[in-house]
Amino acid sequence: MASLWKIKPLALLHQEAQEEGEHTLKRSLGALNLIMLGIGAIIGAGIFVLTGQAAARHAGPAVALSFVLAGITCAFAGLCYAEFASIIPIAGSAYTYGYATLGEFVAWIIGWDLVLEYAFGAATVASGWAGYFNSFLQQLHIYIPPQLTATTGTVLVFYQQQWTPLMSLPPGVSDAGLPHVTGLFNLIAIVAILLVTTILVVGIQESASLNTIIVIVKLAIVGVFIVVGVYFLMKHPQVAHANWHPFIPPRDSHGNFGVMGIAAGAASIFFSYIGFDAVSTAAQEAKNPQRDMPIGILGSLVICTLLYIVVSTILTGLVNYRSLDVAAPVAFGIDATGVSWGSMLVKIGAIFGLGTVMLVMLLGQSRVFFSMSRDGLLPKWASEIHPKFRTPWKSTIIVGLVVALMPAFLPIDRLSELVNIGTLLAFMIVCTGVWILRVRHPEMHRPFKTPLVPFVPIMGILTALFLMVQLPRITWIVMLSWLVVGLVIYFSYSIKHSRVQKMG
Ligand code: ALA
Repeated sequence: MASLWKIKPLALLHQEAQEEGEHTLKRSLGALNLIMLGIGAIIGAGIFVLTGQAAARHAGPAVALSFVLAGITCAFAGLCYAEFASIIPIAGSAYTYGYATLGEFVAWIIGWDLVLEYAFGAATVASGWAGYFNSFLQQLHIYIPPQLTATTGTVLVFYQQQWTPLMSLPPGVSDAGLPHVTGLFNLIAIVAILLVTTILVVGIQESASLNTIIVIVKLAIVGVFIVVGVYFLMKHPQVAHANWHPFIPPRDSHGNFGVMGIAAGAASIFFSYIGFDAVSTAAQEAKNPQRDMPIGILGSLVICTLLYIVVSTILTGLVNYRSLDVAAPVAFGIDATGVSWGSMLVKIGAIFGLGTVMLVMLLGQSRVFFSMSRDGLLPKWASEIHPKFRTPWKSTIIVGLVVALMPAFLPIDRLSELVNIGTLLAFMIVCTGVWILRVRHPEMHRPFKTPLVPFVPIMGILTALFLMVQLPRITWIVMLSWLVVGLVIYFSYSIKHSRVQKMG
């Protein structure tokens, strides 16, 4: 009889992980590749785009504290992910962990929820990427028809030689007399996703080495921003002083800023940290997953947290936070230093850098579908491996086609909020899973142990919940509706085709 709480035996998971042959994935990634994969997934649209929005709308210069708060939340969850990834080094991430510990029903919910994280995450980044790419082209005076550069209904105005959203005109500038157009859909974002999908179909090995090169470029650009910014602020301390005071702007009449603005900012820039968990979806491609998974997850998280705090502090020092609600805020920030090549360099870095984020997110998504399909919860074609490339090509292509449509029609803030709520829910379930597994199977061999259980899992759950309640009501409604659709699929298809259910 079918049971919602059927657990996938660990022995079966390990056996699957050890299978070699043409139907399995290649093991080609070492510890450094995994840290690079993590950084490749983490530094992206969050720091390059959403930081500006969060500073301008919620937190002011205290957005740096929002990064601290969101970073703490991720550290608790990261420690739990690392324990799971070391015990269960199998493609599929939180979905697989849930299957081995909390049963099939919870696993399904996580797997379905992870679509919000990975697929919508890739869509969000594509939207940010398109903003930087278009801004780069316009700086070179190359103009794509503006109707094809923005989501449906977005009003653009031609200001200072650039088509820019009406909403992001600097305070006090009137749009009267400026040319206006209305966006149809974002063609640039569609093309970006389709390109990345093609790279993924061709293979993980090529993707991983390409990723490593681009991550180095991305880190170098962030480094340049920090050096140029610090140098400028040291020479002009009065600029920093004016922009950083008050560090926590007082609460305004719309309920923004103030201490709670830091929390709202954290819920929004939480997106910047997403990705360290995507390392765990590559477990089946890691050479030594039990040792290297925790290194990959925690190493990339620590490096990125430090960079974010520094970058956001410098950015709000260079430019007043009220002016940061633009498509390419980091480029805008470096412009303020007067270094003429700075903004071009940052844009090029963001174009390559955000590319790797899309890559890892789409990789994560097709791997989760791969695992769910191997378990019988999704149709078989989703785990078919290409005979030559040895990648799950069908699921990669279908995911790519669907994801390409999202940023074409939905704005970046709505997309990122959905990703945030979905990911925070996954964090809560993973933290709960670690705790439950410690109670049920204290004897289990854990190559990496989350410290201070149950304190760390409980803090992971509470901090994630705290950030979730900061998000708008519409985001909650969409997430819950998404989960309802998932339940319908589970009860009408998955439970009947599940391999674990058939094992009796
Ligand atoms: N953390 C990733 C980004 O900021 C998803 O783009």
